[in-house]
Amino acid sequence: MELTHRPRRLRQDRIRPLVSETSLEPSDFIAPVFVDATTEERVPIESMPGHERVPIDEAVARVEEVLETGVEAVMLFGIPRSKDPDGTRAWAEDGVVQEATRRITSETDAYVITDVCLCEYTSHGHCGPLEEELRDEEGGVDEPIHGHDATTTVDNDATLESLENIATSHAEAGADMIAPSGMMDGMVGAIRGALDSSGFDHVPIMSYAAKYESAFYGPFRDAADGAPSFGNRRHYQMDPANAREAIREVELDVEQGADVLMVKPALPYLDIVADLRREFDHPVAAYNVSGEYAMLHAAAEKGWLDLEEVALESLLSIKRAGADLILTYFAEDVATRLQG
Ligand code: PBG
Repeated sequence: MELTHRPRRLRQDRIRPLVSETSLEPSDFIAPVFVDATTEERVPIESMPGHERVPIDEAVARVEEVLETGVEAVMLFGIPRSKDPDGTRAWAEDGVVQEATRRITSETDAYVITDVCLCEYTSHGHCGPLEEELRDEEGGVDEPIHGHDATTTVDNDATLESLENIATSHAEAGADMIAPSGMMDGMVGAIRGALDSSGFDHVPIMSYAAKYESAFYGPFRDAADGAPSFGNRRHYQMDPANAREAIREVELDVEQGADVLMVKPALPYLDIVADLRREFDHPVAAYNVSGEYAMLHAAAEKGWLDLEEVALESLLSIKRAGADLILTYFAEDVATRLQG
């Protein structure tokens, strides 16, 4: 055979690293950490093997474990000691994330990013206070809401005020970066304004900019106890059918001052990651979510997949698609392997 082009020449062992287009570093990863104000002991999360909800007293120890693997950043999620219809514990000075942030930033060098949302704090599990017509005297809902009514739930503009309070309280506690995940219109601008006017103009915002209404969040909702008690999140999170809408949605966040743009979930939405990489010059983050983690673990448990290999390949794919930062429950395992 007279073949001029033989791509296999560059696939030989010693040349492969030289022509490799993508590489992963532990510093690419952000490890999610769950801090739980309702427990005094670490509680394993069943659907996310290897992950736990840790009490506030263990938050520093948990973050130190992350740092030991070479991962330098954590994303904090809180489970509050109590919930109410407006989610007021989300901006309490002695709230779970505020307290954990204070301790972690004073005792470790971790870069602390805080998730800013209300769904773990509201009694109804939606990402903000409910619209007027749905509220009973206490602001909650009496009965499950079905059908058409289930699609009008969260009061967008009332939520913005709460998000401003949450973001400011996190920054006051020492958070290095604020990550709003509620998909409310105007949330980035509202938070930027609140941070700037309280002396936190140096704190960047990583917006969950293109966040889809995804069934892949299932295990997280167990982990963080944040499932909506009625309806769904369809009227604020994006329709999985839409890609062009993501560009429009992200443009708005850019105009409002977002510093880092996130796509979530990651693997089923790599086209969106690639689109953002092409359309914007901002750093792009991708959230390899709980369901993506859980399904690989479940298959590995059955002996159907090699967990270490599929985890590494998944993260490599996310980076190759254009993500600069990767939020992933595999952060510690893959970082440990990369270091070793
Ligand atoms: C809160 C939030 C969610 C996730 C991150 N922040 C849940 C949701 O939107 O329902 C999901 C993360 C994961 O599945 O790993 N709004």
